[in-house]
Amino acid sequence: MTDSLDVLVICGSLRKGSYNAALARTLPALAPAGLKLRPAPSFEKIPIYNHDIQSSSGFPPEAVAWADAIRSADALIIVSPEYNWSIPGGLKNAIDWVSRMKDQPFKDKPVALQSAAGGILGGSRMQYHLRMSLTSLDVVLFGRPEVIITFAAQKFDEKTLELKDQTAIDLIKQQLAVFEKFIRRLQPKD
Ligand SMILES: Cc1cc2nc3c(=O)[nH]c(=O)nc-3n(C[C@H](O)[C@H](O)[C@H](O)COP(=O)(O)O)c2cc1C
Repeated sequence: MTDSLDVLVICGSLRKGSYNAALARTLPALAPAGLKLRPAPSFEKIPIYNHDIQSSSGFPPEAVAWADAIRSADALIIVSPEYNWSIPGGLKNAIDWVSRMKDQPFKDKPVALQSAAGGILGGSRMQYHLRMSLTSLDVVLFGRPEVIITFAAQKFDEKTLELKDQTAIDLIKQQLAVFEKFIRRLQPKD
């Protein structure tokens, strides 16, 4: 039996009733046996990036904890909504902080993206902005299949927030299975 891979799941929404957080919680049940998924620490308390803070008091402990979690994982899945056609500010802020660290945590990390949003494009514009931004951090971006959940309110149970759309469920399973192979291809051989 091959060793399982440690995959960190980062959610871009802080909202209690978040569809993306619900999606992130669904992933372990849809993942192949070879992927062990765990949630990333919250970026909620990371202050807004300011180089003066970095110079005077160093990196905030919340940013260090976020970076450590990323560094220790074999791969990442980022599950996020789209805010005003782009990356939610909280998530971008966390990325900006850790991008300034020595031993930059995103470097060479395999990353898959998922999004759920209220509209017809399902957060796809956020995904493309994230692809652009993460490319500057030397991540190894997973391509297809893409997981883009449109009209989220119709796909999750109103009360339990359970993902009930079979097409989306099948697509997620497919993405995670292909992502596992992608990560394994990138693992150092010894
Ligand atoms: C500040 C803000 C900006 C938004 N901009 C977009 C947008 O550009 N595209 C979109 O599809 N939905 C947009 N929405 C609606 C979100 O898709 C919707 O609120 C979604 O439920 C947010 O994800 P969450 O449920 O995981 O928190 C926006 C919502 C907020 C709060």
